[in-house]
Amino acid sequence: MVLVTGGTGLVGSHLLYQLTRQRNDIVAIHRRSSDLQLVKRIFGYYTDTADALFAKITWKEADITDITSLQEVFLDSFKLVYHCAAMISFDSKDYYELRKVNIKGTANLVNLSLENEVEKFCFVSSIATLDELPGQKFVTEGNEWNAELKHHGYAITKYGAEMEVWRASQEGLDVIIVNPGVILGPGLWNTAAGKLFSSVAGGFKYYTEGITGFVGIEDVIKSMLLLMKSTIKNERFILVSENLPFRDVLDQIADCFAVKKPSIKVSKTLTEVAWRLDSLKSLLMGSPRRLTNHTARSGHHKNYYSSEKVISALDYDFQPVAVTVRNVCEIYMKEKEVTS
Ligand SMILES: NC(=O)c1ccc[n+]([C@@H]2O[C@H](COP(=O)([O-])OP(=O)(O)OC[C@H]3O[C@@H](n4cnc5c(N)ncnc54)[C@H](OP(=O)(O)O)[C@@H]3O)[C@@H](O)[C@H]2O)c1
Repeated sequence: MVLVTGGTGLVGSHLLYQLTRQRNDIVAIHRRSSDLQLVKRIFGYYTDTADALFAKITWKEADITDITSLQEVFLDSFKLVYHCAAMISFDSKDYYELRKVNIKGTANLVNLSLENEVEKFCFVSSIATLDELPGQKFVTEGNEWNAELKHHGYAITKYGAEMEVWRASQEGLDVIIVNPGVILGPGLWNTAAGKLFSSVAGGFKYYTEGITGFVGIEDVIKSMLLLMKSTIKNERFILVSENLPFRDVLDQIADCFAVKKPSIKVSKTLTEVAWRLDSLKSLLMGSPRRLTNHTARSGHHKNYYSSEKVISALDYDFQPVAVTVRNVCEIYMKEKEVTS
């Protein structure tokens, strides 16, 4: 049997689709508040038999921070575990919740996987755990966490989660860690990179000059499945198709939607002022943060990541970002046509 956490999120739902095409013994956990219809909708991007494939999944209610609920899930015996659940937030007020979900939640899962003799455990980490080295252009899997640098809470907790996974590997659990860049994929239009598509479609005008690694959701899922199937273990892999300026990706999205490209450059000074004003507004009015110091600053960083390791380990070819962007835009337009 195979267990998937985070099955109602971007990575987990696309992973579940591919798993349901291959097997019938899938358990996925969800919380009471989760939107399971979203998963079915995402299956519908790929197939006309979404209902039948969705029906192959046994859903169990569990929170990864609640050990009792997880123990009940582990009454089934799993060979493989894909751990995609996480909290993603760059708001400093979420730091303690981030620690609880990302570090404690991962510790709970690897501990239960060890206890129940799971054969292989896949953890979805992030490029946020990989620090640059002076004088080196491309970040690789060998780049260690540099505790001297200032990190945002999300990165600290993804690093803490990786430490739990490495600890479990020392205790006998075979593990794979993937470190994807910004994941471009359809379905969750109001979170993470999904918001890039909905914002540009809505006339978003601004851009910054930062550069980072981007990867399509299909490549993330394919790599995870291939790595779990392979004999490779106790290794981590960067998953980045291309390192691109944010502006290029925004322009590509605008071209696909045939809307005006973002044309107002946001300077470093302006973003520094903007996140402070947003923080003040949030403090005074209790509104959710729209721009944090991390999101503001990361828009200006220029980071390059190398995926050579996964390319040579799996003899793998990543889909160009332009192809992914086009596919995601097409799904976005079709979905908006149907719902409008
Ligand atoms: N998206 C990206 O660009 C990106 C890039 C690099 C790495 N990653 C990593 O990829 C993984 C998946 O990200 P994603 O984009 O799929 O995130 P997402 O869309 O925000 O989904 C997060 C998932 O985690 C679940 N979850 C959150 N807290 C939980 C808890 N306490 N107990 C059980 N489930 C919980 C959510 O379930 P509910 O339905 O109950 O909320 C949801 O299914 C994460 O580890 C993230 O750090 C993402």
